[in-house]
Amino acid sequence: MNADFIWGVSSSSYQIEGGAREGGRGLSIWDTFCRQPGRVANGDTGDVACDHYHRLSEDITLMSDLGVGAYRFSVAWPRVLPVGYGQANEAGLAFYDRLVDALLAADIEPWLCLYHWDLPQALQDMGGWTSRDSVRWFADYATLIARRYGGRVKRFATFNEPSVFTLLGYGVGQHPPGIKDSTIFVQAIHHVNLAHGAAVDVLRSLVPAASIGAIHCQQPCLPSTPEDKTAAELLDAYWNGAFADPQYLACYPPLLREHIESYICCGDLDRINRPVDWFGLNHYCPIFVKADPDSSLGFASAEPPGEFTRSGIGWPIDPNAFRDTLLAVHKRYRLPIYVLENGIGSHDTRRDDGQIVDDHRIDYLRNYTGAMDSAIAGGADVRGYFVWSLLDNFEWASGYDPRFGLVYVDYSTQQRFPKASFRWYSELIRGGRRR
Ligand code: GCO
Repeated sequence: MNADFIWGVSSSSYQIEGGAREGGRGLSIWDTFCRQPGRVANGDTGDVACDHYHRLSEDITLMSDLGVGAYRFSVAWPRVLPVGYGQANEAGLAFYDRLVDALLAADIEPWLCLYHWDLPQALQDMGGWTSRDSVRWFADYATLIARRYGGRVKRFATFNEPSVFTLLGYGVGQHPPGIKDSTIFVQAIHHVNLAHGAAVDVLRSLVPAASIGAIHCQQPCLPSTPEDKTAAELLDAYWNGAFADPQYLACYPPLLREHIESYICCGDLDRINRPVDWFGLNHYCPIFVKADPDSSLGFASAEPPGEFTRSGIGWPIDPNAFRDTLLAVHKRYRLPIYVLENGIGSHDTRRDDGQIVDDHRIDYLRNYTGAMDSAIAGGADVRGYFVWSLLDNFEWASGYDPRFGLVYVDYSTQQRFPKASFRWYSELIRGGRRR
């Protein structure tokens, strides 16, 4: 492995910060959604989450112990701009000052993502991503962030998994704002793409040394039966192509063109297709798809076939799919790749002796980093790998049940306990590879 290769961990604001009503933070669409009965498992919310807002130093010490060279986090837009625009919130900005400064002091490179799904509720009330004004709101927010942190932060991502939050939020209604409407869904896709392009321009002009990208979930979409081939191709276009293709190839996937065309104004594809420095890639597993005439989109997710081993939360395990994805993304987009999320969810427990023996996670990480090595050997230009996640955290509509962390969080006391996988990853990073 190249000596410049970056090993890191990733997180996101709403999933770990807590402090939801502190330091002047405004409401996000997730605060609202969590309060709607039946939306989130167990009625869980991100109000406290991992209390990272108050435990930032302890969490950075954990990262130092782990030995990572980089930490990817997101800024909570409503923490720094409580209603999404206008007057900035100094206390919120100061929180990320402390985070960035402490990371730099610990020699951990901050990777700042502008948007990991916590849109200010006030902007949702003005139409959210279905309004073309969202492009301007996002560019103004990017300006604030670039001015404040651009002297210290060089790695910027615009959006995390735009295909996931638009599909789940506007297509199938499982995430906020809880809409199921194929027309509104494609409108949101186009505006998020425009917002990405506008933010790239802002970051480029205000932070000349910036290294900029976006983070895309890339997972093979496979038909559940041969009859489901069309459904799988359609999900593939939405999931894997709807953002990466216009952002890097200046076109929408052919299957989406007729749906999106009426929202595209002259010059839009140029506004979206701005030069970036890398491709941020998140991958967990292949997705199985079936045709579903009852869904407004015509498809639905399906159970993986029986031959797959599954994670504790039921996701199929297939390292070869990861290798093939890396090779395919390399070939299609020709950008340096950073794997910015990979990991496994399970229901880890602490044994009586206090240990968390997550051998399944060690196996998963060993096999997936091995698959990454094969992709690199096959020519894929992969420059970094970030585990999702440092801490167990709020897993969106599934609440706190799934645990993805290298560190176990006891939510009743907020105590952190490194799992066996923490030690394994630390040895991998420090060069004592055990694959
Ligand atoms: C996503 C997000 C993360 C998740 C992780 C596990 O992909 O949904 O980027 O916030 O927690 O992927 O599902």
